Amino acid sequence: MSVSVYHFSPTGSTKQIALAFGRALDQNASFVDLAAPGIHGGSRPIPDPDENETSLALFAVPVFAGRVPAPAIEAIERLDGKGVVAASAVVYGNRDFDDALIELNDVLTRQGFAIIASGAFVARHSMLPSVAAKRPDASDLEDVSKFARLVAEKAAAKDALSTPDVPGNRPYKEASGAAWVPTVSDDCILCGICAAQCPVEAIPRSAPNTTEAGCFQCMRCVAVCPKDARSLPAPVAAMISEKLGPVAGVRKPNQMWV
Ligand SMILES: Cc1cc2nc3c(=O)[nH]c(=O)nc-3n(C[C@H](O)[C@H](O)[C@H](O)COP(=O)(O)O)c2cc1C
Ligand code: SF4
Ligand code: SF4
Repeated sequence: MSVSVYHFSPTGSTKQIALAFGRALDQNASFVDLAAPGIHGGSRPIPDPDENETSLALFAVPVFAGRVPAPAIEAIERLDGKGVVAASAVVYGNRDFDDALIELNDVLTRQGFAIIASGAFVARHSMLPSVAAKRPDASDLEDVSKFARLVAEKAAAKDALSTPDVPGNRPYKEASGAAWVPTVSDDCILCGICAAQCPVEAIPRSAPNTTEAGCFQCMRCVAVCPKDARSLPAPVAAMISEKLGPVAGVRKPNQMWV
């Protein structure tokens, strides 16, 4: 089976899950990074999936405010699904995935993919990494392998390729209107790492201690800064701590619909 894995992963957890899925089925799986700098501006092409008979695609995206991040939707909208059989996965920070999975399945279906299975997996919360801190862990990655096997079995039974019903509502939750950007402290050494890695090029290379409009609060710059100079603004950190308090000590299970 030839597997193409498309992932959008600002801080790496979604990618971990995507890699585990791909490798469980195909040692030569191809991986496409939908959050790579240049994808968003259109200067990097995105390869369409291979439409041969045994092809399978996986799409893995994180959940932001109960939705799929807009730049991930925009990247998927550039693809031609050509009827390729696909599975979808959302990765969320132990609160909830709300309408993200149904939204992901809707956009993939519109682009011409045949969705046969979906999953919702838990990972470290990228805004408050103490929540679900060590996830995905070994047990989560076993769940991902199990999901991959179930998807492959279903794909092989070519006459029963139904799309599963997944939780979520239409119309979707309103997208977050939050306008904050990461705070930059005096520890910034202007190294430019954050500017080079921002998926939407919202950090000017000439002034990487600033952030422009277009930032979608993905936390990549906070995660990659070698000086820990970028962080959540204090009021946002306080708000998110309060919101996640009730789920901080709960281990939410991964879920699959096949
Ligand atoms: C702006 C933003 C909003 C988020 N919203 C949610 C949410 O609604 N529910 C949730 O459980 N986790 C939420 N998270 C946590 C991420 O979904 C989770 O940490 C995910 O694993 C991040 O994937 P990544 O490591 O591939 O970037 C949010 C994270 C960010 C940065
Ligand atoms: S990665 Fe950190 S230190 Fe480097 S330019 Fe960005 S904020 Fe400054
Ligand atoms: S500036 Fe915004 S969009 Fe760019 S990496 Fe930082 S948080 Fe993400």
